[in-house]
Amino acid sequence: MKIIKSVPEAEIYIKEQRILKKDVCLVPTMGSLHDGHVELIKKAPSNSLKIVSIYVNHLQFNEENDYINYPRNTEKDIDLCRTNSVDFVFIPDENFMENLIDKSAIDLPKFTRYMCGQTRSGHFLGVYKVVKFLFDIFNPNYACFGKKDFQQLLLIKYIVKTHFQNLKIIDVDTIRTKNNIALSSRLTKLSETSFNKASLIYNTLLEIKNSLLKGNRFTNIKNNFINKLKINGIDVEYIEHRLLDTLEESRNSLNKSGIFIACYIDNIRLIDNIEI
Ligand code: PAJ
Repeated sequence: MKIIKSVPEAEIYIKEQRILKKDVCLVPTMGSLHDGHVELIKKAPSNSLKIVSIYVNHLQFNEENDYINYPRNTEKDIDLCRTNSVDFVFIPDENFMENLIDKSAIDLPKFTRYMCGQTRSGHFLGVYKVVKFLFDIFNPNYACFGKKDFQQLLLIKYIVKTHFQNLKIIDVDTIRTKNNIALSSRLTKLSETSFNKASLIYNTLLEIKNSLLKGNRFTNIKNNFINKLKINGIDVEYIEHRLLDTLEESRNSLNKSGIFIACYIDNIRLIDNIEI
């Protein structure tokens, strides 16, 4: 496994692989890798050159402390990549995008203003910039992204439609613990008691889904569930029922819709979603 730390080195390596007619599959991450990331690596087509990028992208953090406290675990990440047959790990230094990034104006799609876009100002612009930059460097044939970050996944598909029509995005279902907690790098920041509380997040989404399928209206039941979570130490930032394609409010239509949540346990922000 090759470990590359600079853009010029990465470009030379990719050029060599292109000469060998290898397809490239990119798995962008912010490190502190867990089984959710491993699942993305496993979904890379078997004959492709598997590249994992590890970069905590300052631009997508709307709070400096959140950026500073984001878990970092580079040595363990490298070992995990090695055991999972990754060919090439790209670990650039903190400021690698400076002076290189495309400065042209960026039009973000409307759905980036909802949910996480409303509460985390500048977040999706930061995601857009780093992902577009990584796609420009590696020009991959495939890239894997998780459905846990559903709104991000839609944005990635928008970037692909706009700039990289030959790139195929591989969507990966959310990997969970046995008691339904969506794996997240941020979970390492929780105490054991708080960690156990996190199972209520998806279990609440399941209860809401069942309630909607029985004919209840989201607007009528939403506050009960928010209160129930609150009593159990989970502060809801948003919980919304929206259409999967556009993220517009679903207005009681269950067809192609999902429930999306962002919440805090002990000041650690977690997100999850469920399709109806
Ligand atoms: P990060 O949170 O490290 O996630 C990297 C990828 O792993 C994303 O596509 C995310 O959706 C996926 N992922 C995370 N947890 C998962 C889980 N439990 N099951 C399945 N997939 C999961 O998302 C980012 O980094 C960044 O925003 C990034 C795209 C790298 C841009 O900086």
